[in-house]
Amino acid sequence: MTLLQKLSFGTLAVLFSLIFIGGYVSSSGVGLTCPDWPLCPHGFVPAYDFIIEYIHRTVAASTGALVVITMAFTLKSKQAPRGMKIASIIAAGAVIGQITLGAIVIVERLHSILVTGHLALGLVLFSMVLMTTVYAWKIKAQNKAAVEASGRQQPAA
Ligand code: HEM
Repeated sequence: MTLLQKLSFGTLAVLFSLIFIGGYVSSSGVGLTCPDWPLCPHGFVPAYDFIIEYIHRTVAASTGALVVITMAFTLKSKQAPRGMKIASIIAAGAVIGQITLGAIVIVERLHSILVTGHLALGLVLFSMVLMTTVYAWKIKAQNKAAVEASGRQQPAA
């Protein structure tokens, strides 16, 4: 596995778990157990009363870092095609927007339009990270095909 494959796939897996946790936060009605922003009532210390929302915020922060790191490595890569770079930039913009929107959802006490927007932006983010991951796999497949083709072109000794 290349570094870009590991990074993008790892980010996708963490993001998928975050969407799952977010769905649980919403459906179990624990969205306002951390009524403040950015920290929960005991700062960085978790407590049973707000553990689900605490996990949602902590995993969101890790996801944000992973998405931005993936973008940085994608932009640095000479092999990454234009589409992959664009997808990773949109993903980074979406994750920053999503974390900001998460804060507004809390401040506005779970306004239904904002919660729906939070879900929709989460889907855009997931699509962009998925696209980045698919591109990362395509690069490797193309490189392998190119190496095999150049091997076939070698004159017989
Ligand atoms: C990358 C970052 C994030 C992603 C992908 C994400 C994703 C989600 C998803 C998919 C839901 C379920 C929405 C629904 O079922 O309608 C959700 C719920 C929620 N998220 Fe996030 N979230 C992120 C960051 C945050 C942050 C930073 C906060 C800030 C505090 C936050 C606060 C909430 C709250 C309060 C709910 C529950 C809303 C309710 O009770 O209906 N999220 N999140």
